[in-house]
Amino acid sequence: MAVPKNAVWERDPHTAAKHDLLKQYLEAWAPILLSRNDVITYAEGFAGAGVYQEGEPGSPVIAYDVFAEALERMPKRMRLILTEEDPRRAEELKRQMALVRAKHTDDIAKRLQVDIQHADFHPALLRKLRIVGALGQPLFVLLDSFGGPDIPYSLLHELGLWRSTEVMVTFGPTFLTRFAKSDNGHRQRGDEAFGSQDWRAVFEQPPAQKFTFLREQYRRTLREAGFSHTLYFEMVDEGSRKLYLIFGTQHEKGLEKMKDAMWKVDPSHGVRYRDPKDTQQQMLELEFEPNTAPLRRILRDFIAESPTGRTVPELKRYTLLETVYRPAEVIKAVRQLRDEGIVATEPHAINTKTQVTMTPSRPKSAPTGEQGALW
Ligand SMILES: C[S@@+](CC[C@H](N)C(=O)[O-])C[C@H]1O[C@@H](n2cnc3c(N)ncnc32)[C@H](O)[C@@H]1O
Repeated sequence: MAVPKNAVWERDPHTAAKHDLLKQYLEAWAPILLSRNDVITYAEGFAGAGVYQEGEPGSPVIAYDVFAEALERMPKRMRLILTEEDPRRAEELKRQMALVRAKHTDDIAKRLQVDIQHADFHPALLRKLRIVGALGQPLFVLLDSFGGPDIPYSLLHELGLWRSTEVMVTFGPTFLTRFAKSDNGHRQRGDEAFGSQDWRAVFEQPPAQKFTFLREQYRRTLREAGFSHTLYFEMVDEGSRKLYLIFGTQHEKGLEKMKDAMWKVDPSHGVRYRDPKDTQQQMLELEFEPNTAPLRRILRDFIAESPTGRTVPELKRYTLLETVYRPAEVIKAVRQLRDEGIVATEPHAINTKTQVTMTPSRPKSAPTGEQGALW
């Protein structure tokens, strides 16, 4: 995205969507992890000023409010570790964090420790996490730069060594596709971010595939670093540039909760998702009732790949791990596929014991249409 010059800048719709997602996720993450641990940590490498032009809260302030509420209900402790390189923003952030702390009780302020460093995020953040002993305990790290790429793979790798660490990284593919081909320095910056040179194959991709290619390469990078499950959110900034927010976790529960958060994001922010497994790459509006047409296409193909079909638990797990959908949407999707005559279920009732097979007379890939005229 275009890098703002002022200490505090206007909050654009994609930032509002990102904040909504973060809040929804942290509201699930904090109580679950606090119920099992005495202390958990939230960290940001690119913390910002803590406030936007019209007074909207920045991500550290949003996080503080969520955690304060969780700590009201549990006698536990949390740490917020923040780094911000710009001196004016770091100063403003200190002011904003003091304000949000003052909104809550002294008891919360004692148990919700805030550490702000005016520093380049790397290696300052990692060093701090080590010193306070946050590595190896539940830790959520938001690396929300303007898109970079500016997160060294070595940092991701270090964080990924710990099973209880989760990361969320903002990744903008534009810089590399636009400038890296002809500039060796920029290419090296890409190598550092991806941890290898494989991403350079982007230069041979057709123009329409370049961003998707880089996004998938970056998800692979996160997996290489240890984050076995990844999920991405596609956002478009105010200059119509694409930005991906990529989440990495080593826990299926984290994935499940992030998906829940993702489908709860306020649709008025205009965020949409696209399932990489959907052959039609249909964009999904966020709606109260998610459009499950792509999920049905994905499940149909997955069922068709196995001569004996799939069980409902298999379909749910596949949905959780391989699509943007939630397992809770599987039963309805299978019922719709059966109503369309595409699959059969044995027994008829759809539950954990049900085997789902393709209806023999149907070709594997029935012609597909747009939403509403599905098969
Ligand atoms: C996208 S903004 C962060 C917004 C914030 N996470 C929020 O949602 O409210 C990126 C921030 O990273 C800061 N920044 C840029 N390079 C940095 C670096 N190397 N280390 C630390 N902070 C950096 C910028 O000054 C800016 O405030």
